[in-house]
Amino acid sequence: MEKTFESVPEGALTGSLRDYRAPEGADLVGRVGAFYEWQNLRREHGLWPYARSTETAPQARCEARTDSGQTFAGINFASQDYLSLSSHPAVKQAAIDAIAEYGVHSAGSAALLGNTANSLKLEQGLSEFLGGREIVLYPTGWAAGYGSIQGFVRTNDHVVMDILAHSCLQEGAKAATQNIHYHGHINLDALARKLERIRNNDAQNGIMVVTESLFSMHSDTPDLGAMRALCDRFNATLLVDCAHDLGSIGDDGLGHLGLQNMLDGADIIIGSFSKTFASNGGFIAVRDRATAEYLKYYSATHTFSNALSPVQAASVLTALNIVRSEEGRQLRRKLMDNILYLRAEMTKAGLETLGDPSPIVPVRLGLEGVGRFASRHLSALGGIANLVEYPAVPQGGARFRFQVMASHSFEDIDQVVEILARSMRDADLEYRVSHEGQAAEPRRAGRTGAA
Ligand SMILES: Cc1ncc(COP(=O)(O)O)c(C=O)c1O
Repeated sequence: MEKTFESVPEGALTGSLRDYRAPEGADLVGRVGAFYEWQNLRREHGLWPYARSTETAPQARCEARTDSGQTFAGINFASQDYLSLSSHPAVKQAAIDAIAEYGVHSAGSAALLGNTANSLKLEQGLSEFLGGREIVLYPTGWAAGYGSIQGFVRTNDHVVMDILAHSCLQEGAKAATQNIHYHGHINLDALARKLERIRNNDAQNGIMVVTESLFSMHSDTPDLGAMRALCDRFNATLLVDCAHDLGSIGDDGLGHLGLQNMLDGADIIIGSFSKTFASNGGFIAVRDRATAEYLKYYSATHTFSNALSPVQAASVLTALNIVRSEEGRQLRRKLMDNILYLRAEMTKAGLETLGDPSPIVPVRLGLEGVGRFASRHLSALGGIANLVEYPAVPQGGARFRFQVMASHSFEDIDQVVEILARSMRDADLEYRVSHEGQAAEPRRAGRTGAA
């Protein structure tokens, strides 16, 4: 039977968060209302797929609720719990034991009395995992990213970073200096040109080169060895954020730092516990004690924020021990089998996956309007994945970000691919209906577009 779709106002299919980023007027609070109007227009048509909550544990199948209160259930590809450790019995037991021993919170900042026996053990475990580096813990991965730049870079220094570097890195750079130089995404020639220009004009001050070992919207990776060589040539410091691949990728779990033999090559490594390590929290790993001690008192998000709770530290430590064990290796193999199977099945179904195999599988949607419809259809049909749209990705490059877990089964994957293919067919059709009278092409502009 032919499907019928209601026409949706253009305003719900276009526009982006960027439109409301710099409102004008003297009333700081009053001037933000336009965003809510646009958001509500999308919400009225079921096209606001953000700020959803889970009603059950965020495992391979889960129940969830939209921010308008509608509940739905489905196969969940929107959790970043890549090795499925957040519901591992040993991790849960470690959290329970920590509560029994310490209660649920820590005493304050780690610069005062906030550390616990658990956080000290976690520092030790991470140090062993990362080849003997000194570890500084942070309350979130975001705080670690921000603090890693704000802690080291001063007004006259330079930050050279990938245009797609995570918000925590961009904000840390903005807090530290006005000398921020963005280069094209994983473009080594562009990086070299920037470095040469800076050094030709300024031999005195520091340069921090900032990148990620796995970019979380594109699932791609820079050549870290080549970046190291450029840093050596231009006397720069290399910082690598390994939030998404540490623990989840590579036989030893060291992510692309391990795969590219670059564990020693990065001057500063930062990471997050919130993906593979089953808790909020993050860390910075540096080469020596002097550097770590400096960060503890000069990176604001460590010094002036409450330390990880003993429950978080115990959960992460237990997750880390699993990551480093044979069980962790097996989980990574299962995860990679799932990733490869998902990508292959999507391709067979005529869908376009982006980037390289990693727990993040971006699927091209194209125009924002098509993406918004596809997202609504996907959850209505029992699939859960996050919609990513401009400005998080280039305009016309909307995508689903599927996040794969070790606990997914091939059956979960078969079902979600079928649902996804149907959602995208329906989205194309619905988008066309909403544009009746307008040119039907191009509905998947992103195929040839900016991403
Ligand atoms: C590359 C990168 N760095 C840092 C973070 C922040 O980590 P957290 O969510 O643990 O604060 C994220 C989270 O999405 C990330 O993708």
